[in-house]
Amino acid sequence: MAGVRGRRQIKGSIMSGTGHTGGGTVTITLDGTNKSVKIPLTSGTVGPDVLDIRKLYNELGIFTYDPGYGGTASCDSRITYIDGDEGILLHRGYPIQQLAEQSSFLEVAHLLLNGELPNAAEKKAFEDGVMKHTMLHEQLRRFFDGFRRDAHPMAIMCGVVGALSAFYHDSLDINNAEHRRISAFRLIAKVPTIAAWAYKYSVGQPFMYPRNDLGYAENFLYMMNAVPAEPYHVNPVLARAMDLIFILHADHEQNASTATVRLSGSTGANPFACIAAGIASLWGPAHGGANEAVLKMLAEIGSVENIKPFLEMVKAKDNHARLMGFGHRVYKNFDPRAVIMQATCHAVLKELGIKDDPLLDLAIELEKIALSDPYFIERKLYPNVDFYSGIILKAMGFPTSMFTVLFAVARTTGWISQWKELIEDPSQRIGRPRQVYTGAVARDYVPLAGR
Ligand code: CMC
Repeated sequence: MAGVRGRRQIKGSIMSGTGHTGGGTVTITLDGTNKSVKIPLTSGTVGPDVLDIRKLYNELGIFTYDPGYGGTASCDSRITYIDGDEGILLHRGYPIQQLAEQSSFLEVAHLLLNGELPNAAEKKAFEDGVMKHTMLHEQLRRFFDGFRRDAHPMAIMCGVVGALSAFYHDSLDINNAEHRRISAFRLIAKVPTIAAWAYKYSVGQPFMYPRNDLGYAENFLYMMNAVPAEPYHVNPVLARAMDLIFILHADHEQNASTATVRLSGSTGANPFACIAAGIASLWGPAHGGANEAVLKMLAEIGSVENIKPFLEMVKAKDNHARLMGFGHRVYKNFDPRAVIMQATCHAVLKELGIKDDPLLDLAIELEKIALSDPYFIERKLYPNVDFYSGIILKAMGFPTSMFTVLFAVARTTGWISQWKELIEDPSQRIGRPRQVYTGAVARDYVPLAGR
């Protein structure tokens, strides 16, 4: 078979046309040909303008190349806005600082899902709606027994959340608005129960059934820490800290796990399957697994005098070592969630009567040294939300293996809001990235004897 082709060199130029916010075009011309295309320049309510390249392939026969999607918008969204240079995070327009100080997790969930803060009646209806779905189908209890005792709770989360699709057939029609509403309630309500039971399973304690008379975070702490043999009182300061941690992790626009949920959802897969896919994507240490990795890293460093050699190793990129809890694809100044998390960390340690926490001291010193090091300054690497969250969660008694699970509990609200927005968007199509093929060109099969 003939037809060996090398990588073609194509020259082109982009001539800016009438580009301005909210309209205009950019003309792309393939040099040496008479082919050119006017690309519409479009924009959101805030943020940079974008080239709408949808007709580029049809008109010029070329794709765009953007591994990691750093320069590509995959959807329109009205849920969350981030300005990474200014350290701004808005949910439906409301700054994260105001939501963290004045709101509650379920109110933020209502905001993300429905677009507006609820009035008093809507708030109560939403909270009641979520809280009455906290129980799991009793047969799902037995599902846990199939896991090894030492299973990572994130593995249990992936499995059991995916299995919800096998138990709630009555709400799986993605084109039915009422089904979407019930599925969202079920996911937000049941994920804390699954998370707490994953923990109970790992320590061999009886599963605690949810208590719908408690608040969302309060009920979660109850299911995690109570045992049937004794009364258990949830510390309100810790319940508030838990609620705040949930708010800070609730949504973060098109990160890897949310993009995974949207990509899965674009195929018409049911919401439970899509959220299970999101949980799998969150697990990695570059994403939600970072909070667990931060504590492992701090334990490895051990003491202040080991910080400098550790940072030298990171800077030399030995064994792919990274300063965990530092850096972010979008935030290049500061992560506003990290600032709130650091303040919460001090409040929680004070409430728990922990005056000197060696891990916190180490983290503060590590942050100080890294922030004055040219390697981190030049690359705009700052502490992210996960740098301090692990220290708080550890002080609250969570084992490190549960840290990413807590992230998943909170992010379920963002995922399901983004999934709902996707399904309700009339312009949504199946997600299907293209590729630059760099493999072998067409060649003839060689029989075994000839190889
Ligand atoms: N430690 C050391 N070097 C780093 C780090 C880090 N944490 N992060 C980035 N760099 C370096 C990287 O090696 C590269 O250097 P060079 O220019 O010499 O090649 C440069 O900074 C740019 O890095 P990048 O990999 O292109 O950045 P990215 O936007 O693709 O990655 C990130 C973002 C969050 C994956 C990365 O910063 C990272 O791995 N951080 C540690 C893991 C972490 O804390 N993740 C939690 C993110 S926040 C919670 C969440 O949303 O999940």
